[in-house]
Amino acid sequence: MKILVVGSGGREHAVIRKLRENPTVTEIFALPGNGGIAADAVCVPIGARDIPAIRDFAVSEGIDYAVVTPDDPLVLGCVDALEEAGIPCFGPRADAAIIEGSKVFSKTLMQKYGIPTARFESFDRLDAALRYLETAALPTVVKADGLALGKGVIIARTREEARRAVTAMMQEGRFGRSGERVVIEEYLEGPEVSVLAFTDSRTLVPMVSSMDHKRALDGDRGLNTGGMGTVAPNPYYTEEIAARCMDEIFLPTVRAMNAEGRPFKGCLYFGLMLTEDGPKVIEYNCRFGDPETQVVLPLLESDLLTVMRAVTEERLDEVEVRFRSRHACCVILASEGYPEHYEKGYPLEIPEAVRPQVYVAGAALKDGQLVTGGGRVVGCTAVADTLAEAVAGAYAVADQVQFKNRFCRRDIGARALTVKEG
Ligand code: AMP
Ligand code: GLY
Repeated sequence: MKILVVGSGGREHAVIRKLRENPTVTEIFALPGNGGIAADAVCVPIGARDIPAIRDFAVSEGIDYAVVTPDDPLVLGCVDALEEAGIPCFGPRADAAIIEGSKVFSKTLMQKYGIPTARFESFDRLDAALRYLETAALPTVVKADGLALGKGVIIARTREEARRAVTAMMQEGRFGRSGERVVIEEYLEGPEVSVLAFTDSRTLVPMVSSMDHKRALDGDRGLNTGGMGTVAPNPYYTEEIAARCMDEIFLPTVRAMNAEGRPFKGCLYFGLMLTEDGPKVIEYNCRFGDPETQVVLPLLESDLLTVMRAVTEERLDEVEVRFRSRHACCVILASEGYPEHYEKGYPLEIPEAVRPQVYVAGAALKDGQLVTGGGRVVGCTAVADTLAEAVAGAYAVADQVQFKNRFCRRDIGARALTVKEG
């Protein structure tokens, strides 16, 4: 089978490695992929948002199955376009990807169907938003409606900060059209858990839970990033909480999307907060998380392509989705300065011995040499019998990967280790 994977990050590298385990896979094309992914797939320089070019490539190359993982092509209708061209896909259509593409949509959905989430109001006029902030409880959370590269969420501790956030989004166009509408919501507290789930809109199968580390610096300080590291499973996510999430959040979400005439097929990502009042949804993503995927897929024992095709064909109930009862940790090596200004183009050395454990997120090939090409450069992953060993293993891999201006958090997994040892 000829497979196409749309995207270019560490998540896509992890998906490609896992897909390659299936013996029927003959060729994988990554659009556009990156210099590191080029070791595992044929990279074709077509941007992930260039949907007509993706479709034309898939048709002319005779692609048998396509996997679309980044948010923007999904929201822009990449799966719709490929399916119209007769190519079966993994990923939601645009009308379901809106669950991530619009926070006003997802918050309204949760409210309508009684799915636990932070209380909220949505606004499309600045004056109304500012008036609401005069009496809103603090801290308060301001979110741009649309996609904003994970940067459209501001936790405001003072009224002035909240007013500035709303004005920057709605009046100064800080996130372009994404910020024309905003959601202002209640501030929640508690441990965060990421749960990715396969769903074909009839059956939902949660994957092993994970914990992201979103802030740039140790001790959860510094700016929000795309994610600086992950561990799986998440020790806060007990069996009891998992059962509650299934009943109160996961299945109600699938049913709600069906009731709205927007059946969701693909990977649905639940960003949860375990509050004193029970688990609540912080956000939905319409795709695999990055870098959650880099710890979840190495723990997947079942064949990924078999599961994905079952999702596409709406027979997820017929396949087995099994995870190893082990632990995984992924440490991101980033370029100094990320998530703001950073330099790239420095030689990137990944010793042969650790290559299977390294997922390349941002790199290019320059005259045959791998060079850094992004804020997040690589994710170093280890799987072990205990969390402590997985964390030590991931850092041991990270220590062997070299490039100039390299930086990472030194405390990935530290909080999880305080909860439970192995
Ligand atoms: P999001 O992009 O929606 O995942 O938000 C980014 C981060 O902001 C989340 O991972 C949370 O840590 C935090 N956050 C979002 N919404 C809330 C909320 N209502 N209360 C507290 N923290 C939040
Ligand atoms: N790691 C969070 C995300 O993929 O949005």
